[in-house]
Amino acid sequence: MKRLFSGMQPTGSPHIGNYLGAIENWVALQEQFDAIYSIVDLHALTIEYNPTEMSRRVFEMAAILLACGIDAPNRCTLFVQSHVPQHSELAWIFNTVTPLAELYRMTQFKSKAETHEKNVNCGLLAYPVLQAADILLYKGEVVPVGEDQVQHIELARIVARKFNNRFGTEYFPEPMEKVSIAKRVRGLDGQAKMSKSLNNQIDVIESPESVWEKLRVAVTDPARIRRKDVGNPDNCNISSLHELFSTAEQIEWAKNGCRTAGIGCFECKRVLADNIIQRFAPIREKALALLEEKSTVERVLAQGAEKARDIASGTMKDVRGILGLY
Ligand code: AMP
Ligand code: TRP
Repeated sequence: MKRLFSGMQPTGSPHIGNYLGAIENWVALQEQFDAIYSIVDLHALTIEYNPTEMSRRVFEMAAILLACGIDAPNRCTLFVQSHVPQHSELAWIFNTVTPLAELYRMTQFKSKAETHEKNVNCGLLAYPVLQAADILLYKGEVVPVGEDQVQHIELARIVARKFNNRFGTEYFPEPMEKVSIAKRVRGLDGQAKMSKSLNNQIDVIESPESVWEKLRVAVTDPARIRRKDVGNPDNCNISSLHELFSTAEQIEWAKNGCRTAGIGCFECKRVLADNIIQRFAPIREKALALLEEKSTVERVLAQGAEKARDIASGTMKDVRGILGLY
């Protein structure tokens, strides 16, 4: 089986956009690949964060990933990046073969340097170098990511190539991205991509009451002001969400009702809310149990780190030899 690697930053409780855009895919891929998944806490240090929340976030993300069907340690490996010090070690070595100009070109660096203009640190620039180390430490060949990360995987190929050329070896494979069929979930504002930083999300473990509270006030077709106005489902994110969570009949009912003003937005949202609640109920239940009980998640992460360190230390031994370190 080919080795697959992917990482997710513990920047908040995973939302239904993360679920449909990434986690669901991770779950499917663990059947086809030798999959290694990491909660990449070191990457999350490159922007402002709250140290008192970090460990809880990492733990919560692990619990939710397991609840979503990431079957570690049986069918994949799940670990926390900072538990495997070789990530930082290899990243440093990769820093020495990565052209600065390649890093300055990265669109994520450019946009984060703007959004976090008070904190444009060296780690923000070197972020994709650490990402290359994540993948190559395990000689990952396949990397499932969203569209926005493709440039970083290209950079990982450049790093592998530069390293191999510099030291006259073919040690590192050039990893390939595997872009998931773009399920881009829009947020409750009806406009932007669902995202924690925009506070327009529904979390995977959102309570049923809260799912409804959020949907109740979510933006619909802005042109449909009163109940008797006809709406256009093509301009309504609630309609898009129905496509992701509802049956064919319900989708049709919602579209038709909207176009003819046969139903109100409230009714339309209630059906959607029930479907979202139902879809995530088993995951939520499992995640809450794992969060409560703690020891399962701790054990999975400890085993994951041990397995990862085992592979990583083998790679670093080879790398030290290749570099000619004493
Ligand atoms: P982020 O939370 O932005 O670091 O994203 C983690 C993963 O979830 C990445 O693979 C993203 O592509 C995916 N993702 C994030 N937000 C969305 C969204 N609104 N719709 C679909 N996928 C998303
Ligand atoms: N940068 C990725 C993101 O923001 C997360 C990530 C870190 C990653 N290391 C990785 C993804 C290695 C794939 C492979 O989504």
